[in-house]
Amino acid sequence: MTTLLHIDASARPGRSGIDPHGSHTRRLSARFVERWRAARPADLIDYLDVGQAPPAHVTGAWIQAAFTPAAVRAPWMHEALAESERLVDQLVASDLIVVGLPMYNFGVPAQFKAYIDNIVRVGRTFGFDRARGEVPYWPLLADAGKRLVLLGARGDFGYGQGQRIAHLNHTEASVRSAFGYIGIDEVHEIAVEYDEFGGEQLAQSLREADLAVDRLADQLSASHLQLITENA
Ligand SMILES: Cc1cc2nc3c(=O)[nH]c(=O)nc-3n(C[C@H](O)[C@H](O)[C@H](O)COP(=O)(O)O)c2cc1C
Repeated sequence: MTTLLHIDASARPGRSGIDPHGSHTRRLSARFVERWRAARPADLIDYLDVGQAPPAHVTGAWIQAAFTPAAVRAPWMHEALAESERLVDQLVASDLIVVGLPMYNFGVPAQFKAYIDNIVRVGRTFGFDRARGEVPYWPLLADAGKRLVLLGARGDFGYGQGQRIAHLNHTEASVRSAFGYIGIDEVHEIAVEYDEFGGEQLAQSLREADLAVDRLADQLSASHLQLITENA
């Protein structure tokens, strides 16, 4: 059985195509999850809406607590890390993470950055030991078969690899860096463009993204079945 963690990061509450002014990334992530559920109804699906309820940003207390070894933390330190511990536990329990991830000012929404800052945790998702020399850190979630799907949306167009303004796109790249650092380096990306243009350009981009989402959900659910059979 797979555990799928579905995360939405758009500040827009509804879904495009259903709700007025709805979010494209919520539309894509919901589409992926519905298709996955239809193919694999027994799988567990967990949901986190950081767009509507962002995790707390890191504070001085959080940093002091996170860099104090767990065995000697004071009670207030456990309190400061409580939300982060829950988010890390949820991530550790997940096999497939599906994120609806808009581009805000060329990067991820602050809501999702707060999530990343809470799950990249020394001793929990990466290790650190100065005695190791030049590369003192190592990923703790590597070799766990975890996969990440980023379902994006942008107002402009041409942000894809090798395209006109790819150099301005720090959205997916920054998430790849952070998740790669903790050991999750199988990443799949699909994005809608032309939100600011609307009309046929947006409609075409949405059609292509919907189809790509269906193909990816089918491909990943089929390859997951194969993995289970191989390991049986
Ligand atoms: C605060 C904010 C910042 C944005 N910054 C960019 C940007 O840098 N580049 C871009 O192409 N579109 C930008 N957009 C447009 C969004 O990426 C676009 O509306 C996208 O569809 C949002 O995702 P959603 O539909 O899931 O809400 C921005 C939108 C907002 C609300």
